[in-house]
Amino acid sequence: MKAVAVRPGVKQSAFVADLPDPRLESIPNGRGVLVRTLQVGVDATDGEINEGLYGAAPKGDDKLVLGHEVFGIVEAVGPNVTHVTVGDYCTCTVRRPGPTIYDQIGRNDITSHHEYYERGINLLHGFMTEAFVDDAEFVVKVPQGLKHLGVLSEPVSVCAKGIEQAYLAQQRLQVWEPRLAFVTGAGQIGLLTTMMLRLRGLEVYTLARSRNPGLKQEIVEAYGGHYISTLDTPMEELASKVGRPDLIIEATGASHVAFEAMQVLNLNGALVWTSVTGGDHKIQNFPADKVNLEWVLGNKLLVGTVNGNRKHFAQGINDLALGEVTYPGVTERILTTPIDGLDDPQGILHELENRANLKVYVNVGTA
Ligand SMILES: NC(=O)c1ccc[n+]([C@@H]2O[C@H](COP(=O)([O-])OP(=O)(O)OC[C@H]3O[C@@H](n4cnc5c(N)ncnc54)[C@H](OP(=O)(O)O)[C@@H]3O)[C@@H](O)[C@H]2O)c1
Repeated sequence: MKAVAVRPGVKQSAFVADLPDPRLESIPNGRGVLVRTLQVGVDATDGEINEGLYGAAPKGDDKLVLGHEVFGIVEAVGPNVTHVTVGDYCTCTVRRPGPTIYDQIGRNDITSHHEYYERGINLLHGFMTEAFVDDAEFVVKVPQGLKHLGVLSEPVSVCAKGIEQAYLAQQRLQVWEPRLAFVTGAGQIGLLTTMMLRLRGLEVYTLARSRNPGLKQEIVEAYGGHYISTLDTPMEELASKVGRPDLIIEATGASHVAFEAMQVLNLNGALVWTSVTGGDHKIQNFPADKVNLEWVLGNKLLVGTVNGNRKHFAQGINDLALGEVTYPGVTERILTTPIDGLDDPQGILHELENRANLKVYVNVGTA
């Protein structure tokens, strides 16, 4: 069976691997689900793994099968699986339980163990393969009517968790009714977050550098948001024009933007950091006293968020569905760059370098 794998730590090592067919019986307690892969999304994390910057092979193996964003169809289930059945569309969560108390209660997404297990990223093979098995615990059903958006299930789970974390943490205020949000970044995370915040009734400004970015701006506006180029209107100037945002979701991949966002947040506001910044960037001349004072006197909240558990996948899928009936046909415009088949691994990953591509994904099979 065909798969795309890398030699972790080796630059541009992606290659077509031959794997044994997955077996339902390899999952204990009759809880196995055999999935035929239909589509696999590709993102910057896959690119970093292929650059040798990130990722680890399963213990005892020298390769790592890529792919952590999957959409598939159930081919077989074990006798103790009830929530999906043969023929259902599905996706899978990414992180698997470690030894901490958070993992024991199904919150693998907030494990406190330093070594985490993530399919296609760290210590576990991923989904960029023709078929795979997993425990039913990690398989999430995707409704038939959403099959055209199923490959966005993982990215949307990241947004769902980020928003949920803000609202949960803001219960500290007893009443919180955010009105105005800034979303920094207009990639897949920023756009899906824009949609989800619009569904919650917020006025949303989505910020990125590009002037006239075409499709990204069209999608933001089709969701009823406002696209802002920070080259024309820096974040602080925007806040002085439209007001300080009650909620900021940061998703640019640029750590200096994360800190810049600290300087515009409203009183009692929440700032959510999602960017994974693997570099060594330093900030000079940060107004530390001023920001510290404003954050203390303004009772402000900063929360970092990563990954999502099955509850966040389910919430994200609900939002994809509501988004589809509220803004028909908009979300599928994010799916810019389909690639057919697994035969050209470097070609697949090369597509990540084209900034015009919003979502690169591989068509692995057909339903
Ligand atoms: N926490 C998690 O679990 C999780 C999961 C997935 C992804 N992420 C992270 O989320 C971030 C966004 O992911 P993505 O896939 O949406 O990325 P992406 O497609 O690369 O989008 C990044 C966006 O940010 C904008 N941007 C970049 N630098 C900027 C700057 N200095 N100022 C203003 N805008 C800037 C880019 O547009 P311009 O080029 O026009 O500025 C682009 O719209 C990444 O850091 C990724 O690692 C986190």
